[in-house]
Amino acid sequence: MDLSAVEKAILEAPLSTPEDLLSFQKNFLKKGGVLDGYYGLLRTLPGAERPAFGQALQRLRALAEERFQAAQVHLRAAEAIRPTLTDPTFPAFTISPGGRHPLSLVESQIVHIFSRIGFTLADGPEIEDDWHNFSALNFEPDHPARDMQDTFFIDPARGLLLRTHTSTIQVRVMERQKPPIRILAPGRVYRHETISARAHVYFHQIEGLYVAEGVSAADLKATLEYFVQAFFGTDTPVRWRASYFPFTEMSAELDIACLICHGEGCPVCKHTGWVEVLGCGMVDPNVFQACGIDPEKYTGYAFGMGIERLAQLKYQIPDLRLFSQNHYRFLANFQGYDLPPN
Ligand code: DAH
Repeated sequence: MDLSAVEKAILEAPLSTPEDLLSFQKNFLKKGGVLDGYYGLLRTLPGAERPAFGQALQRLRALAEERFQAAQVHLRAAEAIRPTLTDPTFPAFTISPGGRHPLSLVESQIVHIFSRIGFTLADGPEIEDDWHNFSALNFEPDHPARDMQDTFFIDPARGLLLRTHTSTIQVRVMERQKPPIRILAPGRVYRHETISARAHVYFHQIEGLYVAEGVSAADLKATLEYFVQAFFGTDTPVRWRASYFPFTEMSAELDIACLICHGEGCPVCKHTGWVEVLGCGMVDPNVFQACGIDPEKYTGYAFGMGIERLAQLKYQIPDLRLFSQNHYRFLANFQGYDLPPN
């Protein structure tokens, strides 16, 4: 009897998956399979033919056994190493490059613009005392800004508070340094406000101060117009308004044409077409006196601006709260932005 077809089937049956192994076992090694059927046939053969046929069946059985075991070893080995296999043709994971927070970007831009005309950086603490936040800056004892409604007091008995503006740093610098002084002081400030699209309990300012002999209001005006043009663009319309601050005499505010509605009127400019970008003035002689600088000899100008306000205008950001919520979709807009070239 010819068993070559069975041998071929044993040799060619697929043996690469666990399912292949199961069906191979069923076909060639188990009761009811093909080989088992031939063993049944063996008993019906005439005595003389049985030994040869029996031997042929044994050989096929050994062959099937051998293939099966080899495949089993192979499959186990493959399963053991599979988790460590990497496919180098797979696309790489995308790694987000990250980006700077818009307030950090805008602060750097402002610092950069003033550093080109000789301003250096100064710093001061966020927890302040009454002297540096109010008294040395010529605030009257009953000035409304000293009210609990506006200021977070930490220890009212000792006059400790969270600074409400970066003008505190003017005082600290003038107390320890003699003119000429030309500094820029960025920092976080705190006010007792209800959080909304337009107000927050903390925000960021940059204070500027220039003190020397013969500093005039013309210097102030030229410097700040230079800044606005460098920051917002040379064709940005500006408007000066007289104002009042306890620590400057003359005091002014600088407005620019609203960059959001281009003068048409919108909620950001309160429908006036103009938005205030900074406060400034000539340092009040009382402030010089409080800081130990001779007001007969020196004059100076100071200015303060809100970083959020400038960022809002430059990047058309409608709601102040976006700066502190840190939603990825907001921050991702600033990926890749950096300082302008020198
Ligand atoms: N400190 C003021 C504020 O928080 C801003 C300011 C106005 C600062 C005029 C100045 C200045 O130095 O001269 O609103």
